[in-house]
Amino acid sequence: MMENLFAFDRRQLALDQGAVLLEGFALSLDRVLLDAVGRIAEAAPFRHLETPGGRRMSVAMTNTGRLGWVSDRRGYRYDEIDPISGRPWPTMPKAFAEMARNAAAAAGFDGFAPEACLINRYEPGTKLSLHQDHDERNLDQPIVSVSLGVDATFLWGGQTRGDRPQRITVQNGDVVVWGGPARLTFHGVDTLADSDHPLTVALRYNLTFRTAA
Ligand code: SIN
Ligand code: FE2
Repeated sequence: MMENLFAFDRRQLALDQGAVLLEGFALSLDRVLLDAVGRIAEAAPFRHLETPGGRRMSVAMTNTGRLGWVSDRRGYRYDEIDPISGRPWPTMPKAFAEMARNAAAAAGFDGFAPEACLINRYEPGTKLSLHQDHDERNLDQPIVSVSLGVDATFLWGGQTRGDRPQRITVQNGDVVVWGGPARLTFHGVDTLADSDHPLTVALRYNLTFRTAA
């Protein structure tokens, strides 16, 4: 009975063709994922990257996996080396890759093999402006995006920057997957409100899995 109740509570909400919110998909792994984020950040600390235009990003970032997403005056790109440590990014934990693969499959994208996981850390007052994920060479593969910690408002836009975005609440354990016709949809995160979560206190983390090369 309980299982049915939970299944009923966890919606799969289509945002567009090729894009779905899988409510609670990663909820049973929240502690495992957050513990791993803590270990990753010991080896590759969260940092505020500089945009090519010279602005400091308010969201703090790090990476796990063979490739990591970085930004500096030279542009946005994927790199095998963490520019702070001069070493490869921490290895992607098996639980990360497996969960991302399962989420992609649940959204209709079989055979997803993430090689990059960008980890974003949002404090109250920080946001991520509308953007497209287009630094990946392989646009056939979807994006898998996992929310952990405090709730946020995910902005789901259209194919042009000017399209007014849908505002979607994403909670701890929610996963959004987008690919196919939705792969280059503009998206972002509205300013994080003051909040309190048992696992992360005031913070929100987001894991974004990509096939980059
Ligand atoms: C991103 O677009 O890189 C992150 C989205 C999110 O934090 O939900
Ligand atoms: Fe993104």
